[in-house]
Amino acid sequence: MKETGKIWMNGKLVPFKDAKVHVLTHALHYSTSVFEGIRCYNTPKGSAVFRLEEHVDRFFKSAKLYSMKMQFSKKEISDAILKTVKVSGLKECYIRPLAYYGYGAMGLTPTENKVDVSIACWEWAMGESKAGKFSGSKCKVSSWIKIDSRSQPMQAKAASNYANAALARVEALDNGYDEAIMLNIHGKVAEGSAENIFIIKDNVIQTPPLSAGGLEGITRDSVIQIIEQNGGFVIERDLDRDDLYSADEIFMTGTAAEVKSVTQIDKVKIGKGSMGKITKALQKSFTEVVMGKDERFLPWLTFI
Ligand SMILES: Cc1ncc(COP(=O)(O)O)c(C=O)c1O
Repeated sequence: MKETGKIWMNGKLVPFKDAKVHVLTHALHYSTSVFEGIRCYNTPKGSAVFRLEEHVDRFFKSAKLYSMKMQFSKKEISDAILKTVKVSGLKECYIRPLAYYGYGAMGLTPTENKVDVSIACWEWAMGESKAGKFSGSKCKVSSWIKIDSRSQPMQAKAASNYANAALARVEALDNGYDEAIMLNIHGKVAEGSAENIFIIKDNVIQTPPLSAGGLEGITRDSVIQIIEQNGGFVIERDLDRDDLYSADEIFMTGTAAEVKSVTQIDKVKIGKGSMGKITKALQKSFTEVVMGKDERFLPWLTFI
């Protein structure tokens, strides 16, 4: 981690290395935190945060689903995000707002503690992705089943969801794959460990409905809107493992992953085993949108 700029903590910008919490911080013990992952792109018109409003909305929705009382308004958090990026001097970065039950009372009940908020950002260049974004990634259908909304609110981007996701990710990496794909308790495709998933069969783009257990991804929504604005459509339907194996193309979407092609699932080659032409075209369209080159989607960018 390259330490750059400052980290916003409850309204104050503190030096990166001093942004510390007590070991008895509630969230460290009980996973009582929610967070966001946002990108700032270095566009030809200047640095711009992608879909800031939607990310801040989801941040507050996640907090609400866990009855966390935020001591800041959406406007204050949006302004704080922009300020943190500006102070960092970074042209392109990943931004991580976090709301967590802090230090105070110890024990399971979180509500006796205050909800602290931090915002950090760090350097992250466009196209940087660990899981073979351009060459095509190899995914393993996880033996870990995706946790279910009967146990936890799955539309919250909560730290507690990610123990399950991390088990799947590590299993995939240990077995020589780049990423995991998680099935839900009904055996239907939910999502990747940190991305939504789309398949293309006979030129029809399909993705699991949110009821399958995936996060309501902002990149997922962006890609669907881009496809629709370009005259296409996306079908939401439950997908089986067979649908993955027999797909012509597969891609994943996420703030970190952007639009990432998948060329192998388990030992099965997808399509020709290289990035398909629809995925390639979408990757290009998405890049144009985040770089402010597509006028139709300029409102999605908040310039620093
Ligand atoms: C579990 C999970 N699914 C999907 C996504 C994609 O969401 P987004 O496009 O909003 O980054 C993410 C990343 O935030 C994630 O962690």
